[in-house]
Amino acid sequence: QARARPVGLLDSGVGGLSVLREVRAQLPAEDVIYVADQGHVPYGPRSIEQVREFTVKLARFLIAQDAKLIVVACNTASAAALYTLRELFPDVPFVGMEPAVKPAAHETQTGTIGVIATEATFQGELYASVVGRFAQGVEVITAACPEFVLLAEAGETDSPAAHEAIRRRLLPLAEAGIDQLVLGCTHFPFLKPAIQAVLGPGVTVVDPSAAVARQAGRVLEARGLLNPGARPGHVTYYTSGEVAAFRRVLGALLGEPVARGADVRAACWTEGDAALAAAPSAL
Ligand code: DGL
Repeated sequence: QARARPVGLLDSGVGGLSVLREVRAQLPAEDVIYVADQGHVPYGPRSIEQVREFTVKLARFLIAQDAKLIVVACNTASAAALYTLRELFPDVPFVGMEPAVKPAAHETQTGTIGVIATEATFQGELYASVVGRFAQGVEVITAACPEFVLLAEAGETDSPAAHEAIRRRLLPLAEAGIDQLVLGCTHFPFLKPAIQAVLGPGVTVVDPSAAVARQAGRVLEARGLLNPGARPGHVTYYTSGEVAAFRRVLGALLGEPVARGADVRAACWTEGDAALAAAPSAL
């Protein structure tokens, strides 16, 4: 039965759990397979080509598990690979992430918005196109925040070190007059309470995860693929890193009750991918 197949989510690590949280809340009957490429995290400092290669591998893994839709729950992977994924797997619907510049540019009163993401996301064409389409007449100030990814991977979202890193990266944006801060990396919503505490109530922190989950629901509905079941769906987590470490961070980020009963497995896929070598190399 097509509608009973799982929804796939992929990320370099635990960042996509911020999207998973919303998918669970909005689409509780769906089974979900979440794959974290913690053997290669972080993606942000890597080349677009390498991130694309990793992302195609993750998508292939989810498709082999019969995913009916794949949420690329990683801005970096979306920037590097969304176009290629749609070319390679035309029968699979993909929902990707792009920095939520549009609502921020619409809401700003000061005319200055901040966007934080990874280095690779800022280098991609997707980011340039989002700014070109949605930020006309608005000043956009960017900052890459690689240590925020590492803090989330460590489950450290509210420590003194987290606050210090946030102050160092984001106070210059506040001083430049931003009143909107776009979280352009799925690891960052876990730092949102600390970010909000540092920036104060004058800056709106824009987290797109709920909108992405809504979009996934719309795509499933349009294709007649929503799971009609009443029972809660099952989540299977795969990591290319360490299973025990993943479970610990899952507890820190989504809560101990979620982590305790979680089905966490080691992901293995074969290195070297013939179909990938034949993939179109253009973005
Ligand atoms: N969670 C990712 C993103 O949304 C990638 C972070 C990383 O691996 O550098 O950009």
